[in-house]
Amino acid sequence: MKVYLSPPVMNGDLERRLVGEAFDSGYVAPCGPMVDRFERAAAERFGFRHTLATVSGTMALELIARAMKIQPGDVVVVSDLTFIGSVTAFASLGAKPVFVGADPATWCMSPRLLKEALRRYPEAKAVIATDLYGQSCDVDALAKCCELYGTKLIVDAAESVGATYRDRPSGTGAWAAVYSFNGNKIITTGGGGMLLSDDAALMNLCRKLAAQAREPFPWYEHTMLGTHGRLGNIPAAIGVGQLQCLQDALRDKAAVWEAWKARLATCAWATLMPTATYGVPNRWLTVITLDGIEPQVAVDVLAQHGIEARPVWKPMHLQPVFTSCDCFLDGVDEQLFARGLCLPSGRNLSLETIDEVVKILESLC
Ligand SMILES: Cc1ncc(COP(=O)(O)O)c(C=O)c1O
Repeated sequence: MKVYLSPPVMNGDLERRLVGEAFDSGYVAPCGPMVDRFERAAAERFGFRHTLATVSGTMALELIARAMKIQPGDVVVVSDLTFIGSVTAFASLGAKPVFVGADPATWCMSPRLLKEALRRYPEAKAVIATDLYGQSCDVDALAKCCELYGTKLIVDAAESVGATYRDRPSGTGAWAAVYSFNGNKIITTGGGGMLLSDDAALMNLCRKLAAQAREPFPWYEHTMLGTHGRLGNIPAAIGVGQLQCLQDALRDKAAVWEAWKARLATCAWATLMPTATYGVPNRWLTVITLDGIEPQVAVDVLAQHGIEARPVWKPMHLQPVFTSCDCFLDGVDEQLFARGLCLPSGRNLSLETIDEVVKILESLC
């Protein structure tokens, strides 16, 4: 059987029962009791006053970009070492991304490099900082830089659902945070996301924009353009069950990471991604840097054995679509891309598979 990087895991027949309830309620629609329940439960669990369930994490960021009335040429400062979903929405509206490199101690946006970027671009409308592979960025340090320039801090916490930063849920301390419930994430709705914030005005506007910016008239009345971004009642039912069992997912992911750590302890060719001292990651993916093995060769050879692995995310400043963008880097991101490997990290990963992967990688040294 193929081993995936991070496959979805359901909790017994909990989600199936909740989906049945959603069907029985008649709300096979982009609204309904499960959406309300999911949003309420998420607000409670993640410490935000307002939550909005969306069709994807990318959509949650699109709603913020629309709410901010991002115009062509507006500058947004974004983590360089991230998945493109962090920047797609803002760049699609014509914003000019400026990329900021990673801190080697966390692999997330370096507060020092952010300071440099904001000194050069004080007019930046927003900073979008990614929590990489389930590890929170240094929110308080980044927020302090943003405050100095009156810039909004958005945390792309798509990968860090359930992680903490100074005992607070990931993303808190920012103006807004975005979660992803894509199929590969620690909890999933099949596909989906969430926007979280304490700013009622922002969230009311985003809620309206997500429903085609419909005005409260009996007929369809529009004074601005929105989009169609609400999560449906059926996937929300899956989300309700997944969220109820998030603690189990965190426990399993931590156990997988510990198993990798123990097995790799004697492997001089592998170094685990560092754990920041300020928080507890959700261990969404176990990631290493390799010494003496090409990550792409490792990915290809593991694939021949039916095992999925992936190179570390290719930095945004190296993406052909962003070649003309300015960036503030000190070589860390390129090094991590050249040497980094995301290991299979599924909740049910067996010790035998870990052993098999290590033996395959060892044969490549
Ligand atoms: C860092 C990051 N940002 C944004 C996204 C986009 O989320 P979605 O796939 O739910 O649109 C993802 C992952 O999918 C991600 O890993």
